[in-house]
Amino acid sequence: MLKTVREQASGLTKDQRNAFVAAYLGWAMDAFDYFLLVFVISDVAKDFDTFDFTATRPGSTDLGLEEAHRDLRISPAEFDEVAAELGRTLDFAKVPRREKEEVLAAFAAHKNEVTAGYMAAVEARQLMPT
Ligand code: HEM
Repeated sequence: MLKTVREQASGLTKDQRNAFVAAYLGWAMDAFDYFLLVFVISDVAKDFDTFDFTATRPGSTDLGLEEAHRDLRISPAEFDEVAAELGRTLDFAKVPRREKEEVLAAFAAHKNEVTAGYMAAVEARQLMPT
């Protein structure tokens, strides 16, 4: 049976506990570092004249979302189920309502592009609508 963190820690020596805390803090510093990188990566990329960050915009084909998903033939019903699962995951992680709605709206905004392959296949009668 799985033990709680406290039960597991009680079986460790002082040195083992210290090693664990040091490793955990190291990991936390690394995660924080990566989090900061997300905010500056676009500017760093510009400084090095490499690539520019492009946000996905609904209806635009800058990133070719239609092409990336065309062969997958994702139906609108499947898309909605993935969105519902995403919502349940955000609830599980206790993400506040406003932020949850922002994420779900950003996801849903690309429904037409992501399901374009399925719609085209139904239109061409290569697929029966589900
Ligand atoms: C039901 C919903 C979705 C499913 C099941 C899905 C699935 C996938 C899969 C399997 C790939 C890899 C395709 C390949 O390697 O050929 C992919 C690529 C990608 N998806 Fe999705 N996707 C969904 C929705 C979305 C949404 C809403 C966005 C954007 C907001 C998105 C953005 C992307 C991007 C940027 C790529 C990579 C394209 C590339 O490498 O050129 N996807 N998706």
